[in-house]
Amino acid sequence: MNSRRALRLSACLAALFAAAGCDPPGKPGPIPPSSQDITDFATLYGDNCAGCHGDNGRNAPGRILNDPLYLAVIPRAELQNIVANGRPGTAMPAWSRAQGGPLTDKQVAALIDGIETHWAKPAQFQNAALPSYDAQGEQGDSGRGKKLFLRGCFMCHGKGAKIGPVTDASYLALSTDQLLRTSIIVGRPDLGMPDYRFLNMGRPLANQDIADLVAYLASMRPSAAPAVASPGETK
Ligand code: HEC
Ligand code: HEC
Repeated sequence: MNSRRALRLSACLAALFAAAGCDPPGKPGPIPPSSQDITDFATLYGDNCAGCHGDNGRNAPGRILNDPLYLAVIPRAELQNIVANGRPGTAMPAWSRAQGGPLTDKQVAALIDGIETHWAKPAQFQNAALPSYDAQGEQGDSGRGKKLFLRGCFMCHGKGAKIGPVTDASYLALSTDQLLRTSIIVGRPDLGMPDYRFLNMGRPLANQDIADLVAYLASMRPSAAPAVASPGETK
């Protein structure tokens, strides 16, 4: 029953990515040359991103993008880097022409501007001490991560209560460490997963805790899976 849900999710992910016309780590299909003039956010987002990340940037198998906490945590340069270059080894394709994608630099910039204009609320987080988007050199301790997982995640993700397929080898093989880190910091407010402030028995998760949790999940990734690059490596 529970693993059926995990399977359904994996199948749903696969179907969506196939519908979007990309074999992981595929490239978006060619689009007509006239479309290079489009800089309208709704059109660019709807045509290129909604298939995986949801019509309004939420409620889809792909990561939630329409989330003020997420957009406060991720530096703009990183957002631009991921959209332009994709995430090698995952279903997230590169979109810039320099990387073989369909979008001009102007269109990538219009997408980033649109995401920030429509979905960010920087004023909400002005003085907040947020976790850093990427690991700042912390070495994760998977043993410690396992303890944190049992305390803060198991009730939703453990055996017998499996909500998302986060400990499944098939999910982990297609997800980067950064995606796991992002998800732990931001949660899935669209699907009912709380953020880092509420996953550690009433105390916020610290950067080290997050690194430990990622190390624990990564330790369950099948060793045959292709090594997945972190976003920094695509710069
Ligand atoms: C209150 C329940 C709940 C708790 C506690 C919880 N999660 Fe989640 N988590 C969810 C739900 C719901 C989803 C969305 C799953 C789906 O796709 O249906 C999710 C999704 C995820 C994802 C995938 C996100 C994505 O977009 O691919 C990861 C990774 C994850 N959780 C890790 C964790 C970790 C690690 C912890 C503990 C620190 C944790 N979760 C605690 C409910 C929870
Ligand atoms: C074929 C499906 C697909 C399409 C289409 C797609 N994405 Fe993604 N995207 C993904 C997946 C899968 C990931 C997670 C990759 C990983 O494991 O790190 C991702 C990750 C991301 C991330 C980084 C999330 C993080 O960890 O912080 C951003 C930002 C993003 N996508 C934006 C976009 C934008 C903008 C578009 C449209 C131009 C787009 N994506 C189109 C599948 C897709």
